[in-house]
Amino acid sequence: MSQSVGRVSTFEDRTPYKFEIDGTDVLVVHVDGKFFAVNDTCTHAEVSLSEGTIEGCAVECWLHGATFDLATGEPVGPPATTALATYSVSLGEGSDPEVLVNINESARN
Ligand code: FES
Repeated sequence: MSQSVGRVSTFEDRTPYKFEIDGTDVLVVHVDGKFFAVNDTCTHAEVSLSEGTIEGCAVECWLHGATFDLATGEPVGPPATTALATYSVSLGEGSDPEVLVNINESARN
């Protein structure tokens, strides 16, 4: 089931936002009108990626610099070698819709 993490207008472009959804830490990023949601925990040493930086459509971990593609969750820069879980994102209705994240559904379907 999808959960709202706020309205579109509350998300700055290329800015990391962290939410807890049913006990899972989720990173949500708005890039050029698209929304991406991935697991917030770096697969290298388990720090929060929401404290990292967004480069294009990727997040760079602040601790050792691993980079993950936000669309696929795949590591695209070392030292991480394991992908992040991705979550599907949809938008509600209206001029400033809710951003809806479903942690039970991968964005890679
Ligand atoms: S903890 Fe993220 S790259 Fe090491």
